[in-house]
Amino acid sequence: MRPLDRLRSFKVKLGVLVAVSVCVAVVLTWLSLAADMHPLLTLPLVVIAALVVTQILARGMTSPLRQMTSAARAMARGDYSQRIETSSRDEVGELADAFTRMATELQTTDTVRRDLVANVSHELRTPVAGLRAQLENIVDGVTEPDPAALEVALTETERLSDLVDDLLDLSRIDAGVIDIDLEEFALTPFLHEAVDAADMGARARGRDLRWAIEVEPADLTATADAPRIRQVIANLLDNASRHSPPDGRVRVRAERTTRDDGVLIQVRDEGPGIARADRERVFERFQHGGGSDGSGGTGLGLAIARWAVELHGGTIEVIDDPRPRTDPDRSSVIRLTLPDMPR
Ligand SMILES: Nc1ncnc2c1ncn2[C@@H]1O[C@H](COP(=O)(O)OP(=O)(O)OP(=O)(O)O)[C@@H](O)[C@H]1O
Ligand SMILES: [Mg+2]
Repeated sequence: MRPLDRLRSFKVKLGVLVAVSVCVAVVLTWLSLAADMHPLLTLPLVVIAALVVTQILARGMTSPLRQMTSAARAMARGDYSQRIETSSRDEVGELADAFTRMATELQTTDTVRRDLVANVSHELRTPVAGLRAQLENIVDGVTEPDPAALEVALTETERLSDLVDDLLDLSRIDAGVIDIDLEEFALTPFLHEAVDAADMGARARGRDLRWAIEVEPADLTATADAPRIRQVIANLLDNASRHSPPDGRVRVRAERTTRDDGVLIQVRDEGPGIARADRERVFERFQHGGGSDGSGGTGLGLAIARWAVELHGGTIEVIDDPRPRTDPDRSSVIRLTLPDMPR
């Protein structure tokens, strides 16, 4: 703690400084006059004494400013690690605190940006490499350009375009562009279509899953942006089918929410589920629950799903599994709610 650190205003600090220096000068002049000292000797003595007092009292008053200058230079070079250390409580101290908060914020943003670039390039590399290998084989005559070979190339291209779509969605999220087009649709045919599409995808991966759809009441409708919600359900079903045991059952249930006349859709599979500690993390971008789980996803699906549902004012979360499980901490029940939206 420095002498004037306790004062909350820079102006008051300066005032104290001036007052103390003046007092010291006056007292010294008075003493030297009383001691009959020559004025030519008194003057430098008084000036030196006033300077010493100023030095002592002003210690640390501007050091946060110097630290900030050096930190700002470091930030310009991309180093966000410098922190401003100060115990001062005046405006300079507040500025130093704000500066430190800004540096922390910038450091986080920078890390997220780096991670994003690294993740995106990594995710793009896999389908591009597959596509390239397949096309090279065809050009070199190693593979015949028959429908089967082209099918492989097409699958990789589809993966690429899905990924690009997801990335576009992410940039829309960041840009805050909100476009939802509300319509009322019946959930029974909607969920059947979604399940049919998911079943085709699962079969293409050699999985013969059982699907159960319950809509209560059967003519239940939702008012929402149907294509966006279809994308959300498609991702939930895709996740469920990828984490299910090969002959597992995936249940989709829709009902009216008791509180606000909205709808609630729940997807549950018989796979290992998501650990309690990962329940929030799986909704972050590029998060593959529990490390690499071999499901081969990008980790964008649930992040985009949460954004789409929240755009509707709804919620999406992993909820406790009502069935007895070997590990009660894990759950594969995802519940989304959509509030009743006036059109
Ligand atoms: N039904 C589920 N059972 C077990 N784990 C799941 C389930 N759904 C999601 N997860 C976990 O949550 C993670 C994030 O899911 P998300 O849908 O966001 O990404 P992804 O499926 O890995 O990739 P993408 O959907 O972008 O192709 C998954 O990697 C997986 O670890
Ligand atoms: Mg997914």
